[in-house]
Amino acid sequence: MSIYKFPDGFKWGSATSAHQIEGNNHNDWSEWESSPERIAQLKKEGKTPSDFISGRACDSYNRYEEDFDIAKKLNQNIHRFSIEWSRIEPEEGKFDFEAIKHYQRLVKVLRDRGMEPMVTLWHFTNPIWFAEKGGFLNKKSPEYFTRYAKYVVDNLKDEVGLWITFNEALTVYAGYTNLTAIWPSRGRGILNFLRMRRNISKAHVLAYREVKKIYDVSSNSSQSFLTSHNVMVGITENNVYVPDTKNFWTILVRRMYKRFRNFYFFKENTPHYDFIGLNYYHISRKPFFGENKKLVSKQEFMKEMNWEIYPEGIYHVLKDLSKFKKPIFITENGIADGADLQREKFIKDHLRWIWQAIQDGVDVRGYLYWSLLDNFEWHLGFKPRFGLVEIDYATLERKIRPSAYEYAKICRENELKVESLY
Ligand code: FCB
Repeated sequence: MSIYKFPDGFKWGSATSAHQIEGNNHNDWSEWESSPERIAQLKKEGKTPSDFISGRACDSYNRYEEDFDIAKKLNQNIHRFSIEWSRIEPEEGKFDFEAIKHYQRLVKVLRDRGMEPMVTLWHFTNPIWFAEKGGFLNKKSPEYFTRYAKYVVDNLKDEVGLWITFNEALTVYAGYTNLTAIWPSRGRGILNFLRMRRNISKAHVLAYREVKKIYDVSSNSSQSFLTSHNVMVGITENNVYVPDTKNFWTILVRRMYKRFRNFYFFKENTPHYDFIGLNYYHISRKPFFGENKKLVSKQEFMKEMNWEIYPEGIYHVLKDLSKFKKPIFITENGIADGADLQREKFIKDHLRWIWQAIQDGVDVRGYLYWSLLDNFEWHLGFKPRFGLVEIDYATLERKIRPSAYEYAKICRENELKVESLY
């Protein structure tokens, strides 16, 4: 039996995002999901369109107490969720106080259950009015986003000390909307891709500064335990593990790709983030030059997503990111596995390598499994099942999966126990 002890105060939890679980959102994604073009495309592919429309999703907008009761039962002490911009600012410049009150209640429910809220301000969805202006292709988008961010933080500042401005905006989102255009897109093109990355970087920096100012001012006046000194504002990016190979050209191209994809934001924007949020899922073995692709043995496979699982990769990604000298939270790591046959091993294997990174000096503060619940997986619809908790979409019944109890033991003990050494 091997025991891997995590540092005192290490955070254990899970993550979700608004559009994927809340239900009945009206934003640029919901418009896209049910657009005649999208429906026609799905039918052409022989798919059932309703499987790809978020609709009531998990109805977590109404059932969040039940969801957080489960997270508490599973010994989690942190929870990451996102705020839906289209609910807060449904019309340009008009803020809906009822919507912010909802999130205030939600944060209170979390705190009452002993979980620290980690709040993402933007997770892939936009209000319609903002999308109609071109979304993050619009030059003024950093100001629009910052106005919204300020409103939210102003109203939640006494209860939330961990903020994430953007989720995977520069890597996944900018690529899927502008390069492959498999997500709601304003037109394909490398220029749009670069423009969006630049605008989102600017939006982050502007919002970062303004949010910090809010705490500077309120530190002098309020009784809150949260001050500009202990509040952290970060950003979450998706990093894939890109291994070196024997071929010189492959190494060269892969290293360039890695710099551009994994490091660009963090390099450009120091010191404007207090922590790094890391979403890690898989290895990327592209591109191949002078190598036989078929010879690369696939270790394990996540069939529902077509991803190659590579737990050791998280160690290398963490080591790479440690050069930016900021604390790191694993804000997402998880497996789509409806049968729940691989999940326990997946979690344990990754934790083993995270533990190793911590031993080797990387400042990792917490691990948040993706996701607490099965949910709406963007263009793939409801098929992939990432949840610690299974959702029956017909009845909305929640059922805790066996692997969730295994993860709960780790959360409770703050340590991972495995039978044999890896
Ligand atoms: C990440 C997203 C998250 C979810 C997981 C599977 O890229 O941030 O919303 O879709 O992948």
